[in-house]
Formats: sequence, structure tokens, C-alpha cells
Amino acid sequence: MIKTIITGVCGRMGSMILKLALEDPDFMVSGVTEIEHHPSVGKCAEAVIVGAGNALIVEGSLASVIDRGDVVIDFTEPEATLENFRLVKKKAKAIVIGTTGLKGQGLDEIMKTKNTRIVISPNMSVGMNLMFDVVEKLSKKMKDHYDIEIFEMHHKLKKDAPSGTAVKLKDLIKNAAPDRKWIEVFGRQGMLGERKKEELGIMSLRGGDVVGEHTVMFAGIGERLEITHRAFSRENFARGALVAARWLVKQKPGVYTMKDVLGL
Ligand SMILES: NC(=O)c1ccc[n+]([C@@H]2O[C@H](COP(=O)([O-])OP(=O)(O)OC[C@H]3O[C@@H](n4cnc5c(N)ncnc54)[C@H](O)[C@@H]3O)[C@@H](O)[C@H]2O)c1
Repeated sequence: MIKTIITGVCGRMGSMILKLALEDPDFMVSGVTEIEHHPSVGKCAEAVIVGAGNALIVEGSLASVIDRGDVVIDFTEPEATLENFRLVKKKAKAIVIGTTGLKGQGLDEIMKTKNTRIVISPNMSVGMNLMFDVVEKLSKKMKDHYDIEIFEMHHKLKKDAPSGTAVKLKDLIKNAAPDRKWIEVFGRQGMLGERKKEELGIMSLRGGDVVGEHTVMFAGIGERLEITHRAFSRENFARGALVAARWLVKQKPGVYTMKDVLGL
């Protein structure tokens, strides 16, 4: 059994990961943490997820539980993740990092680490990572015979557009054919004239409670190939984090992504 510590356990992702880890016989949740001043600190995890039991107490720091775990699963916020990573490194444990927004020196510090086992990915969904791979492969084969357009839709509360995942899809497509003089087109309006061959369109829709939908269209003459991924809940990210943790504990020290985890 993989002794697992979940940080940010009261968060949307942390609580989902706790629920799934408790149901999975491969995992033993040996510690859960929250930010120091969180009202759940000192209380039993049963208050977070029914079934967690009364023995598991929410701790206010990773330092107080780190010795009990093999792997830490961290979906918190950048500063907390960096601090947790440093402790994991010092204690020679493993860490799965799902937190987004890490950048600059902090991200460099993690990416350049040599002696720690790390999986880091801003999108842990297994299906989405498979889509990245398929889109990359198709883009290499398509040459300029097809017009490529990206469509994404998210809930009405999302603030940024296009989504980070759509940007990643765009970059994969561009890098698959780096010699083409790509023209990125974010939405269209007015008398723009015919579509240019080098255009790569990215359309963002917002509405309702859509968790996340991404389609890449390869539009040819008399046919169209579409690859779509639809996320129905955050559960797909949490499941991906457990897939990553299960894989990571068997690896040599190194910085890995979901591409490595899935053998793509
Ligand atoms: N990689 C992926 O696939 C993926 C998917 C979804 C979300 N995310 C990212 O995961 C992160 C968390 O997302 P969320 O929706 O669960 O957010 P959230 O705000 O619901 O949860 C974050 C939790 O972390 C806790 N926290 C903050 N500092 C802490 C500390 N020092 N120690 C312990 N706990 C601490 C917060 O109190 C909160 O409960 C975000 O960066 C989000 O973008 C990544």
C-alpha cells in the first residue's frame, strides 16, 4: 500500500483526492494537511469526507506528517507547493504536484531538481493527456492538407480565455509543423475575407457550469476529423493524480510529467 499524504485536503481537489484514495485499495492515507489557520486543522478528516474515520487528523503543516508518508499529493497554491516540495526533497520522499501558476525561480527550482521523485502537470486528466498525444501525432501527419481549428467551452465563472489547455493544444500543433508561418486567430468577426491556409483558429465559449470541453478540428475537403475531450467533473484530475502517484513511487529520482506516467 502506498502511504499517501494529501495537502490542501479541504480544497475542491484535495477533498476529491482523499475520497478516491480512501476507496482505492492501493492507497493508505497516512496524513492530511490544511493551511495553518484553516478551521479544519486539529479536527478529524471525517468532517471533510465521510468514511475518512476519526483517527486521521487534519494537520496544520506538512512537517508534522511527512515522516508517515511515501508520497505527497499537492493541489494547493504556488507558495505552499514550493514549501512542501522543499520538505519532500529534504526527506527524500516523492511528490505529485497539480498546483498551477508556479513560475519563475520557484518553478525552475522544482524543474532542475535531480535527487527527488516528482510528477508535475498542470492537467492531470488521463484523457486530456492522451488527447495531447493524439493531436501532436495527427498534426505532424496532416501537413497543410487540413485547416486546423480549436474550440473550447468552460463555465461562466472562468476568468481567462482561451483556457490553458487550449493554449497547450495550439502550441503542440504549431510545434508539430514549426516551418509553417502560423497565424493565430482568436475569434472572428466582420468581413475578414477567405480563411488563410496558415490560420490556426481558437474559439472560446463560456456558459453555465461546463467543467471543460476541448475540440481540435482538422477540416479537409469533403471530410472533417474532430478530436474532443469533455470533462464532466474534477474527478478526472483527481484520478489522474492517483495514477501518477502509483507510478511515481516505483521510479528513480527525476522530474516527470503525465506524458512519462502514461508512457506516451
Ligand atoms: N493539475 C490539474 O489537473 C489540476 C486540476 C484542477 C486544479 N488544479 C490546481 O490545483 C490547485 C488547487 O485547486 P482547487 O480547485 O482544489 O483549489 P481550492 O482553493 O479549492 O483548494 C486549495 C486548498 O489548498 C489549501 N492550502 C493553501 N495553502 C496551504 C498550505 N500551506 N498547506 C496546506 N493547504 C493549503 C487551501 O486552504 C485550500 O483548501 C490550483 O492551483 C488549481 O489550479 C490542477
